[in-house]
Amino acid sequence: AVVMATGACSASNGATAPSGAPAATERSGGSAGTPGAAGIGDPDFPRDGNGGYDVAHYGLRLGYDPSSRTLDGTATVKAAATQDLSLFHLDLHGFTVRAVTVDGAAATFTRDGDELVVTPAEPIAKGTSFTVAVEYGGKPDPVRNSSNLGTYGFIPTKDGAFVTAEPNGAKTWFPCNDHPADKATFDFDVTVPAGLTVIANGEMTRPPATSGDKSTFTWRESHPMTTYLATITLGKFQVRTGKSTRGIPVYAATDPAYSHQLDSLFATSAKVTDYWSTVFGPYPFSSTGGVIDDFSAGYALENQTKPMYGGFAPDQSIIAHELAHQWFGDSVSITRWKDLWLNEGFATYAEWLWAERNGGASADQTFEGYNGADRSEMWGYPPGEARRDDLFHNSVYTRGAMTLHVLRRRIGDDKFFELLRTWTRTYAHSNATTPQFIAMAEKVGGKPVKDLFDAWLFSPTHPTIVR
Ligand code: ARG
Ligand code: ZN
Repeated sequence: AVVMATGACSASNGATAPSGAPAATERSGGSAGTPGAAGIGDPDFPRDGNGGYDVAHYGLRLGYDPSSRTLDGTATVKAAATQDLSLFHLDLHGFTVRAVTVDGAAATFTRDGDELVVTPAEPIAKGTSFTVAVEYGGKPDPVRNSSNLGTYGFIPTKDGAFVTAEPNGAKTWFPCNDHPADKATFDFDVTVPAGLTVIANGEMTRPPATSGDKSTFTWRESHPMTTYLATITLGKFQVRTGKSTRGIPVYAATDPAYSHQLDSLFATSAKVTDYWSTVFGPYPFSSTGGVIDDFSAGYALENQTKPMYGGFAPDQSIIAHELAHQWFGDSVSITRWKDLWLNEGFATYAEWLWAERNGGASADQTFEGYNGADRSEMWGYPPGEARRDDLFHNSVYTRGAMTLHVLRRRIGDDKFFELLRTWTRTYAHSNATTPQFIAMAEKVGGKPVKDLFDAWLFSPTHPTIVR
């Protein structure tokens, strides 16, 4: 049955153990499990993500028809239960859900706002791996003009779709545990009208296949990825592939309106990826690249392996920023949104490093320029506590970068860059928090740093500590 009503999810659904349930000894106390929580536990985004399981892999087999703006298909989610589960949630915004199975058996489901609540035929025991298949379809409804985030999610364009989902727009195109704390690998199998190109994360597993008037593209991201970095941006594109000087495969694509930018996008993305590999540690993924689409998003997004630029020709600085995110944000991911400076402060600092390296202002000059200016909007917003109502505030970017510069002055260049590489190595393909960064800064730097972080990350005033 298709249930589109927004009635409250009924926790009692899972209370009765079906007769075929495993023996009581296999499940703590023989209970039939308890409902998985509707949120993963991020205090600022209480409904984002879900509790009670950990996703290992998403398999997305989808078709998109730009003329009817319809997305259709099956999402297969492989997960492991972290508690005995009577039922669990997935995040999904809109669409008609046609069927849900768990380990091949029909499951019942209800919709509750952006929660898809699934009750498997049998409870799932803690520690068990299970596979959920969701058949769904409809017109994607991206998050539009949200107060400070603009439009994000699966965004239909003239010739296809621009798919960039930070912070929580993955649910606008597939059912998921939509929070960066739960990373997973991805397979994409996407069919579109012939003549269009589908650009997803990772690498193509085989050449696109055209049959009749349809083409199918298969991509795989074999490194864990947060849901907001997943993409299937599609449309008319010119593509250039090759390798960087250091041998990293590069995939660059431009909407026809930006075709004159294709070669520079390719070359700069290759050059920047190579350079950051010498500064931040080995490149964490199997390919790099970039995509320029003609949708004016007003921002770029660091989609894993392929940053996307929404309706503008990126300069070197933005490319340097988005590719720095491959280490800071994509490989080492945040655990909660208030730590967003771990992404944006670091990527902004990378812009300063890139400018210095290429004959522009030194990082020190850039720091002094901001520190000497009237920047009350930054001084009032402590970047170590990114605010839900203004997540991407300039303070999270610029004052976050200033924090790193003050740290660099304190512990010196050698220790500072050793710290960045220790950070990317220790938490590669994983998640981390601000307290973990502070602890590592103190250990690797060999100096007390608490005063510095208190002032720069957590005080709503202009810090006086500058080294
Ligand atoms: N992480 C992106 C960047 O700094 C910004 C994403 C903004 N997202 C949004 N929905 N406006 O490059
Ligand atoms: Zn950024």
